[in-house]
Amino acid sequence: MKYNQSNIKKAKKYLDNNNCIGIPTETVYGLAGNAYSDIAVKKIFILKKRPRNNPLIVHYYNLSELKKDCVLNKDFFLLYKKFCPGPLTFVLKLKKNSKISKIVTNNKKILAVRFPKQRLFKKLIKNLGYPLAAPSANISNKLSSVKASDVKEEFGNKIKFVLDGGKCKVGIESTIISLIKKPEILRLGGLENSKIKKVLNKPITVNINPNKKNAPGQSKLHYSPGIPLRMNAKKLKKDEAFVVLKKKNIRNKDCFYLSKKGNLNEATKNLYSTLRKIKKKGYKSIAVEKIKSVGLGQSINDRLNRASKF
Ligand code: TXA
Ligand code: MG
Repeated sequence: MKYNQSNIKKAKKYLDNNNCIGIPTETVYGLAGNAYSDIAVKKIFILKKRPRNNPLIVHYYNLSELKKDCVLNKDFFLLYKKFCPGPLTFVLKLKKNSKISKIVTNNKKILAVRFPKQRLFKKLIKNLGYPLAAPSANISNKLSSVKASDVKEEFGNKIKFVLDGGKCKVGIESTIISLIKKPEILRLGGLENSKIKKVLNKPITVNINPNKKNAPGQSKLHYSPGIPLRMNAKKLKKDEAFVVLKKKNIRNKDCFYLSKKGNLNEATKNLYSTLRKIKKKGYKSIAVEKIKSVGLGQSINDRLNRASKF
């Protein structure tokens, strides 16, 4: 995607005026607003139809900006050094004098933060002077957006601008780790758990149970393409689209592969766009073949599993 200075300026202007806009990150597109502004943050909740008790992730340009708002610990620095910027979100203690709008955390004293890697995003946030609250740019519980056109599809003319950064390179949301007490993974995502474990070199609990209060957004029904989806399918039923990991040697117009050679990074990148495409083609339901739960396969299965609760 061509870098365009006037688009960055335009985006800044909208944000400075407390508007919400679509922004690219390497994981998925975000619906962004000034995290210090009650007005901007309220708009995000309304546009997304998001319950107020489901807190937002705040996106930063660099460490010195984050230090103003959060208490940082040893585990944080280890992970930050290795993985930031990148698809990892930290849940941290909020400082008393932080300027983050209380609406972002629903008055709680913990904040989810992240440092996106996407080029245009970095150019934009560098000169803002405030961090950006940004949930994924989709109506609550629906499929996240991985292209600027997806964001437009989700929100129509309810938002005034989407900064187009091309297709997201990771393709699913960030992995979330809480560092409030012992390290605890709250959402599987674009960074594999095994890589995190290697760096921290101590036990990490994985707590992605939807009934727990600590990640309110991990609801059972999530990431839904809006039509039924079943996993571990062996055969197609009538009117179903078939999603497979690797290209098969058969010609079948109802068969959609995620990666030509079965590469998991590529499959992750193509997951949401494939589901969106199938929905648009008018299929009534989706069958997905069994995908091994290793590495990013685990994150893919997590999303498919939640989408299957439709
Ligand atoms: O990749 C991503 O993380 C994308 C891009 C735009 O950065 N954002 C994203 O945001 O996925 P969202 O709002 O769709 O999902 C954020 C998740 C929700 O499940 C929310 O409940 C959880 O993070 N969360 C936010 N603040 C939290 C907190 N203080 N404690 C625990 N979970 C939190
Ligand atoms: Mg989301």
